[in-house]
Amino acid sequence: MTQSTKIETTKNIEIKDINTNKSISKQLLKRKLSDLKDSDQSTILKNLNDRTLSISSTDSEDLGDRLDQNSSSSSSDEEDDQVEQKRKLETDEEEPSSKKLKRSDSQTAVVIKSFDEPFFIDNNYPIPKLNDYEVLIENKYIGLNPVDWKGKKYRFGVYSFPWIQGRESSGVVHQLGPKVDNVSKGDEVFIASTSYRDLRTSTFQNFTIFDSRLIWKLPEVLSLKESCAIGVGLITAGSVIEELNVNLFDDKDFDQEKLLKKRDSILIWGGSSGVGSYIIQLAKVAGFKKIITVASEKHNEFLTDLGATHILDRFKSKDELIKELTDIVPEGLQIGVDVVGKQTTDIVLEFLNINRSNPKESPKTFVGVVSKPSKDIDESLLENIELKEVFIKKFHENVKFGEGLVSKTWELLSQEKIKPQRNLKIYKGFEGILDGLKDLEKFGASNEKYIVEL
Ligand SMILES: NC(=O)c1ccc[n+]([C@@H]2O[C@H](COP(=O)([O-])OP(=O)(O)OC[C@H]3O[C@@H](n4cnc5c(N)ncnc54)[C@H](OP(=O)(O)O)[C@@H]3O)[C@@H](O)[C@H]2O)c1
Repeated sequence: MTQSTKIETTKNIEIKDINTNKSISKQLLKRKLSDLKDSDQSTILKNLNDRTLSISSTDSEDLGDRLDQNSSSSSSDEEDDQVEQKRKLETDEEEPSSKKLKRSDSQTAVVIKSFDEPFFIDNNYPIPKLNDYEVLIENKYIGLNPVDWKGKKYRFGVYSFPWIQGRESSGVVHQLGPKVDNVSKGDEVFIASTSYRDLRTSTFQNFTIFDSRLIWKLPEVLSLKESCAIGVGLITAGSVIEELNVNLFDDKDFDQEKLLKKRDSILIWGGSSGVGSYIIQLAKVAGFKKIITVASEKHNEFLTDLGATHILDRFKSKDELIKELTDIVPEGLQIGVDVVGKQTTDIVLEFLNINRSNPKESPKTFVGVVSKPSKDIDESLLENIELKEVFIKKFHENVKFGEGLVSKTWELLSQEKIKPQRNLKIYKGFEGILDGLKDLEKFGASNEKYIVEL
């Protein structure tokens, strides 16, 4: 069946969007049909009901992102454009803003117009354009992170206006760049968007673009709902583990004996956070013998299940904690990670000095996810300690590392050796992003993850 026959067939019928019951121009239908397989075309044409064919607004959005590719226009197209233009103007007058039909190449996004204005839901934000290795993902669920509200409130990580936040999501591959060969249209995927300066990759929008080499196909054991909130925590934890040189994400030729020595003990302050929970699980996979975490007692069962071997109550005094830790690691602690803040960073550095008669003998490692040591820290505590910070942009800037991390963690997720946070607080729609961010700021998260179903 050729495209012209189809259009002939539809010449005298009225086409309606089933959600709005408004007419849709023949031009939109023509573009839709031209993109479908013959079998799908016949199904649609079979559904012609007297003089009315209904297509859903998802179809018309689906159509919208193909407009640039189908730009050939005839005089009848121009007439149709005028009808479509008029219809849109009429629609704009009649419908409340939340129901307005979007421009055909636009989508909905939550934007920051300025630091002083509230987040704004823009129904006419452009759909991002693809490069060679990229895919366009239709977001179904979005994970919310503290940085999404903190960045706006404390004015960091926002470099221009309008700006879009959102660093993780799950959804369906909608369009492929010309060099993409590892995923197909329709694949279910989830992402961690670390390239925050590139607004096409932000997730507070219907469609997000990301490098196809750095996305996870949905493992069979996971749902789109629970996977939307994995990305940021897992990438951050993966970057911490990478700083420890334990050779988890690539096959560098390490001195195995030296490596195994390094895997005796690790302490993570803040194990019940999203990031902390993945560090514990990756440390277990990497073979650490003593995985110690500081957290609330109420999370003990959860943390033990993840692989923590010792849990210290975060509400005990520093002296009490040092005493307990000395019993656990009489030989001294090798690696300390802080996922909470400056004050706890300083305490973890003290932990690394437990029973350290000669600091020069054994170098130790500290990784700060949130903070550096405070300026007035006792300098002797830092002696022969490697201070490391985590920069998650390494994930996309060093594609080889990113690919290794995705591939290894996909395997671990599939084998359920890494489990996502399953305590989900669910919000709905773009308004839900705004509500979720307000609640996250107000109440925080206690071993739980805020997500939004679009
Ligand atoms: N460097 C980076 O690139 C990077 C990337 C991602 C995240 N981050 C940062 O890492 C931190 C963690 O992020 P997230 O999303 O994983 O956090 P999250 O899940 O929201 O963290 C909440 C958890 O932290 C625990 N917690 C709070 N204060 C604690 C304390 N003093 N001691 C022990 N546990 C404490 C809470 O325990 P309770 O239930 O006991 O209250 C709660 O379970 C955030 O500050 C985030 O901004 C940095």
